[in-house]
Amino acid sequence: MRMYDLIMKKRNGAALDAEEIDYMIREYTADKIPDYQMAAMMMAVYFRGMTKEETAALTMAMAHSGDMLDLSAVEGVKADKHSTGGVGDKTSIALMPMVAACGLKIAKMSGRGLGHTGGTIDKLESFPGFSTGISTAQFMEQVNRIGISIMGQTLSLAPADKKLYALRDVTATVDNLSLIASSIMSKKLASGADAIVLDVKTGSGAFMKKEEDAFALAREMVMLGNHAGRKTIAVVTDMDQPLGLAVGNALEVKEAIETLRGNGPEDFLTLCMTLGTQMLLAGGKAETEAQAEAMLRKVIEDGSALRKLAQFVEAQGGDAAAVYDTSLLPQAEIVEEVYAREEGCLTRMVCDEIGTCALMLGGGRETKDSEIDLSVGIVLHKKVGDYVKKGDALAAIYANDAGKLAAARERFLKACYFGEKAPDAGKFIKGIVR
Ligand code: URA
Repeated sequence: MRMYDLIMKKRNGAALDAEEIDYMIREYTADKIPDYQMAAMMMAVYFRGMTKEETAALTMAMAHSGDMLDLSAVEGVKADKHSTGGVGDKTSIALMPMVAACGLKIAKMSGRGLGHTGGTIDKLESFPGFSTGISTAQFMEQVNRIGISIMGQTLSLAPADKKLYALRDVTATVDNLSLIASSIMSKKLASGADAIVLDVKTGSGAFMKKEEDAFALAREMVMLGNHAGRKTIAVVTDMDQPLGLAVGNALEVKEAIETLRGNGPEDFLTLCMTLGTQMLLAGGKAETEAQAEAMLRKVIEDGSALRKLAQFVEAQGGDAAAVYDTSLLPQAEIVEEVYAREEGCLTRMVCDEIGTCALMLGGGRETKDSEIDLSVGIVLHKKVGDYVKKGDALAAIYANDAGKLAAARERFLKACYFGEKAPDAGKFIKGIVR
């Protein structure tokens, strides 16, 4: 078999068979197929798409490209959650401790930023000393001992996705249904959880801009998960404006901590409650939605979710004091307000553009090897539907470079649209796919 022939086959619109997909993934993982050929293949897939059979074969090939973690030594149901990626999506940092504080074991594998979206691992590294580069033995021991662990994608788990994810990030080949579904589900299957809750984003900040595409992605992933014997549920949620107020690694960690203190923005708290409810139901910790919601509210009120976050940070080498004193998180040197240049109702925020502003400030990767500046980003003061007078502060920009700040400010202002009246507020939770 030759990679050249496979690229040509896909480019011409034919479907690859499981053997061809296995070959391609095996050889790419072993560094026998170069990045430039795989980049061409990803672009061909982007334009030609993949059948359900191809997507399933790609998922299984990537899941089996490394170890398949066996968590059966850890007692009870192990749950995992994954987001398809958004702007200001700090959900795991608040949600995982909430659910773990309710007694459900969290065994989660997380990724880094991708395209205009951030990644949980980058965010968690805002805690000085924190590491997700832990061994699978430590991962299992920690889930057993404190009920929560988050590991990065080591070379032993779904290494094919790790390589492909980084390649797609810099070759504009992220937002394809089959590539996203197989990327997420290969990791989820390899990391061994029994119950998987997926947060599928839709809107201008999501990879799936249209709601119908997000539902199609949700159905595809639920099917892949259930076929592999994992209880899988997807919640389709709005990403037409940033989630919460903070966009940027350490700024988002701070907002997640505030949420665990009971001071979270409404949309973000709603999302944590909805996903947490599904996780507790799927994991058998609650029998009804009302019961699950009450459990989640209680762990915020009594501080046990915040303490669980501190315990988790400490277990993975991080400075748990930063959970209680967020001035210990990375801080930007320059903070500048962005003022509205016109008056009116904020009718739209082009969400991926706002993610790109954070990326331009240094909060994301421009190339595979870029270093991230954890301290930079944007904190919104206004959201869609708010009335704004000329000169009102729309947001604060956190930066370490005046030139980057000026460029981000202009881009941010161009992403904000004003009109006479507030747009109809669409549903934030669009639906649940089981
Ligand atoms: N998240 C992933 O893990 N993979 C993708 O391809 C997109 C979002």
